Amino acid sequence: MYSEKVMDHFRNPRNMGEIPDADGMGTVGNPVCGDMMNIYIKVEDNRIVDIKFKTFGCGAAIATSSMVTELAKGKTLDEAMKLTRSDVADSLDGLPPVKMHCSNLAADGLHEAIKDYRKKREAEK
Ligand code: FES
Repeated sequence: MYSEKVMDHFRNPRNMGEIPDADGMGTVGNPVCGDMMNIYIKVEDNRIVDIKFKTFGCGAAIATSSMVTELAKGKTLDEAMKLTRSDVADSLDGLPPVKMHCSNLAADGLHEAIKDYRKKREAEK
């Protein structure tokens, strides 16, 4: 039922963990199932230079978190803001329909982390 790519990212998640001195952090919860995800980013010159995630969720949530970190790493903040839920699902060669909601967490978590970073920058000015 899962694609090879989903299984690969679920078994070997990329960029899993925390960034203690992160420049931005996004926390999102999935209202459908109650799962939770944190995304941490390091930013230099408006670009995501490092990104990690911590997810308490199902296999699809872990695979999508892992994929979103790969998609976002090296992108500018504006580019990363444009990554959508379907970009994440498509990069994993799709998700079973009942698991599509799991990809919401990853894209939303990334966007929240960027918003958090921007808010902090504003506050420093
Ligand atoms: Fe909760 Fe997938 S079932 S995120």
